[in-house]
Amino acid sequence: MVQDGIDLASLDKFIDDVKQELIDARHHSAVDRLRTKVFGNQGVIRLAMKGLASLPLDERPSVGRVINDIKNELERLIADRSEEIDSLEFTKKLGPEPIEFSIGGYDSPGTLHPITQIQRKIEEAFGRIGFTEARGTEIETEWFCFDALNTPKNHPARDEMDTFFLPEDTVVSSASKYLTERYLLRSHTSTVQIRTMLKEKPPLKIIAPGRTFRRDTVDATHSANFHQCEGLYVAEGVTVCDLKAVLNFLLHTLFGDDIKFRLRPSFFPFTEPSFEVDMMSKNLGTLSNQWIEILGCGMVDPEVFNAVGYDSTKFSGFAFGVGLERVAMLLQGIDDVRMFYQNDLRFLNQFS
Ligand code: PHE
Repeated sequence: MVQDGIDLASLDKFIDDVKQELIDARHHSAVDRLRTKVFGNQGVIRLAMKGLASLPLDERPSVGRVINDIKNELERLIADRSEEIDSLEFTKKLGPEPIEFSIGGYDSPGTLHPITQIQRKIEEAFGRIGFTEARGTEIETEWFCFDALNTPKNHPARDEMDTFFLPEDTVVSSASKYLTERYLLRSHTSTVQIRTMLKEKPPLKIIAPGRTFRRDTVDATHSANFHQCEGLYVAEGVTVCDLKAVLNFLLHTLFGDDIKFRLRPSFFPFTEPSFEVDMMSKNLGTLSNQWIEILGCGMVDPEVFNAVGYDSTKFSGFAFGVGLERVAMLLQGIDDVRMFYQNDLRFLNQFS
């Protein structure tokens, strides 16, 4: 150690020790202690400078330069370690998987969500056969969601257990006869049939993809929030044959050529007759070669035309509604609907 005179050999040894201690330092307090030991009033640099005085005049400049170099080097090492400890403490605060802000962006431009991909596929295909796209609103009134769709007041879908109603104080009393009901989150996209028919005169051909809501308890096959795509074609002389042709087009678009489908009689308040469509395909993994229920459809009920002021003796039409999650799950062999909403990149990246 340097005391009164200067012993360059022990100065070297001292510096090596300081360097090692710096490497071991894990906290700012340890670095501060070293800083004092080197640069403080009793620190080694100051003592060495003092010691210069006892050297012969002609040796002072060269030894002084050596001390100065050492001083600069230690200053730099201490500052560097201090910065490293800053970043160590910062990453510790961020938890086990620290974010490294200095890394550049990923090359991947991202991909469309699997539900969006299905939606785009339907939009693109139906655009080719002259259907335009219509949009409704996610918050609706009972009239659009049920009454205009010929759904009686006591229908189970209107139950508080099945539909999300907004609080009573959001009820609007407006001059419009359509807006005097309770607000709700639409339970199907069939509301867009009504919205479109009120605005436009037949003939019309629309699809209406969008988000829908039901009070389902969330599990692998149920989600309170899901997506549907509605289809509606109204003109003079539309028949079940037209419906079948368009369903054939829709299912082939989604599932490829190798499928069969059948219409099974069913019931919806807003279509008469109503059908459930089942399909069968060789390419659906564990669900291959069996009938799978895929969508609901039917011929627009004359009561619906009456509600929107269409002449039900002149016009006829068909409507269908398909669940997009259902299609994506079948196509991709996904067995848990919750995966669609968790934004887990390990899931989403599989659909690029
Ligand atoms: N809206 C129906 C549902 O959500 C589906 C449907 C649409 C049925 C159009 C017939 C016609 O279940």
